[in-house]
Amino acid sequence: MCGIVGYIGNKKATPILLDGLLSLEYRGYDSAGIATIENDVIKVMKDKGRVKNLENLDGIHDLIGTVGIAHTRWATHGKPCRENSHPHMDNSNTFAVVHNGIIENYIELKEFLISKGYTFLSQTDTEVIPNLIHYYYTNGPVSVLKDSLEKFLGSVKSAVNDLKGSYAIEVISPICPNEVIVVRKDSPLVIGKGGGENYIASDIPAILKYTKEFYLLDDNEFAVISKDIVKFYDSSLTEHSKPIKNIEWDSNAADKCGYEDYMLKEIFEQPTAIRETIGSRFRLGEKCSFDDIDISKEYLKSINNIYIVACGTAMHAGLVGKTLIENLCKIPTTVDIASEFRYRDPIIDEHTLCIYISQSGETADTIAALKLAKSKGAKTLAISNVIGSSITREADYTIYTHAGPEIAVASTKAYTSQVALIAILAMYFAEILGSSDEKTILDLKTDMIDLPTKIEKILDNVEPIKEFAQKIYTEKDMFFLGRNMDYNVALEGSLKLKEISYIHSEAYAAGELKHGPIALIENGVTVIGIITNPNLVEKSISNLQEVITRGAKTLVITNQILTNSHFDYVINIPETNPLLSPILSIIPMQLLSYYISKFKGLDVDKPRNLAKSVTVE
Ligand code: AGP
Ligand code: GLU
Repeated sequence: MCGIVGYIGNKKATPILLDGLLSLEYRGYDSAGIATIENDVIKVMKDKGRVKNLENLDGIHDLIGTVGIAHTRWATHGKPCRENSHPHMDNSNTFAVVHNGIIENYIELKEFLISKGYTFLSQTDTEVIPNLIHYYYTNGPVSVLKDSLEKFLGSVKSAVNDLKGSYAIEVISPICPNEVIVVRKDSPLVIGKGGGENYIASDIPAILKYTKEFYLLDDNEFAVISKDIVKFYDSSLTEHSKPIKNIEWDSNAADKCGYEDYMLKEIFEQPTAIRETIGSRFRLGEKCSFDDIDISKEYLKSINNIYIVACGTAMHAGLVGKTLIENLCKIPTTVDIASEFRYRDPIIDEHTLCIYISQSGETADTIAALKLAKSKGAKTLAISNVIGSSITREADYTIYTHAGPEIAVASTKAYTSQVALIAILAMYFAEILGSSDEKTILDLKTDMIDLPTKIEKILDNVEPIKEFAQKIYTEKDMFFLGRNMDYNVALEGSLKLKEISYIHSEAYAAGELKHGPIALIENGVTVIGIITNPNLVEKSISNLQEVITRGAKTLVITNQILTNSHFDYVINIPETNPLLSPILSIIPMQLLSYYISKFKGLDVDKPRNLAKSVTVE
């Protein structure tokens, strides 16, 4: 959730570290800090609040060290304050550590260290780490070693052996002033290779402007990074080599490029994201192809059911995926929230295919849910937007959305790309299985190819959505109603609104409202209806009529011609195949949330309490 940055080279580390922290701001945090080594002394500067506060601390720009580590903290143990901010040091100020994650057994470790005479300055779980490193450096079996780097690495390894939980850790020490040691487990960390300098970050966009060559650290893997060389070690400190990955993302992809906010930029990037996601996966008149996975007809025929497991927006994309797969492949499909799935002993075996959707590929619950399915013998397929992310390294098969980096906490282009990719996957499976007729698939492909232009059409006319946002931005409660796919997308529309405007909203299956929630409808409440399925127009209109009768103000997003209706506002969107309609109908809802948030003067890209990638349970 927090961010980690590191630098080692010939330049002053501080500006690079601060710049990296700024580009990680979107991940959500409450404090920030850096440490560099100067004349054999560790210099730490940290405070609660934004990176901007850190930049304004007295003396920070005078730091001349060329080795440094940096952190934005999303507090888990101990309130946000200077003492709890990272980096943390051991009692002798020999080791400075930044840590992303949670040390579950920190109380036990703290008691042990206190019994050995160590004292603690913070309430964090993290502070045990530098002290444990110091303990092993002075008391462990490595303490007799002569080579200080071996001794340093050995004591980091011994300390890490004691940790339970999740961590991405950077350590520096004046004992080895030309090295940074890193290790990770269940929290992301990448190393960017430069010429005569190297970079470290918790995700690729933070250092994309410096390099496109990355090493993706694995779980329980250590790296010792100097300015010219990066050495990798497994959990027993046996050295090994590691391939470098070239990341093709354009470095501008992580910039705002003139847009006021990342979210707005990403909403407008959706036509490109869909085009890129379709890529060469199909052409009209040809079958779909997934060069990246090798799924046989025999295997698909052996599947009895499919699970789609994910969190938040990715789970909402999964709901659309369920209808697509059931419709085209005739395989029963269940969608589950990863944090529920992992603790409810789902019935899965080798005849189950489990699909995991995660934009970041680092969501702790989704990764745990994937590991669970693997342990039960099911095959796992990951859908991610981040090349080499943790989930892609765990799954049997991986396919990528090509949405480019998504920086805003509120997911937009990842959602539409995920839905598009699952639609292509469903067509691919259907073609292998022969479960849908050729015309159905051809029509769907034709409609998919037209989607980017249709999205552009919606984006060309944002004024009516903005006007409506201005009318309702002070409200406290809203409802989103739809049936089938329109209900699935209503859930996503409601999530967007909650996330960035802090307005409470509920999404309901339109026919379900009268079973209880209609009691909440009173004069002036805003209800947003989505009507895109030609077969359900009348039913949906009747449900909306029920709320109009009770005084609701209505906005309807539709691709149908609605006669004799009494809605206050109607946003028309282009028509498409009902199976693909969420890719278009979500766009006015994304824009509505965006403008409401702007009218309220909120931080659209970094909503309170939220983090872009949720790497803790
Ligand atoms: C989306 O707007 C949310 N911020 C959140 O629900 C997100 O989709 C969820 O945390 C899953 O993230 P992932 O796709 O990176 O796994
Ligand atoms: N658990 C640590 C703390 O509360 C690290 C939190 C983080 O990942 O930012 O300080």
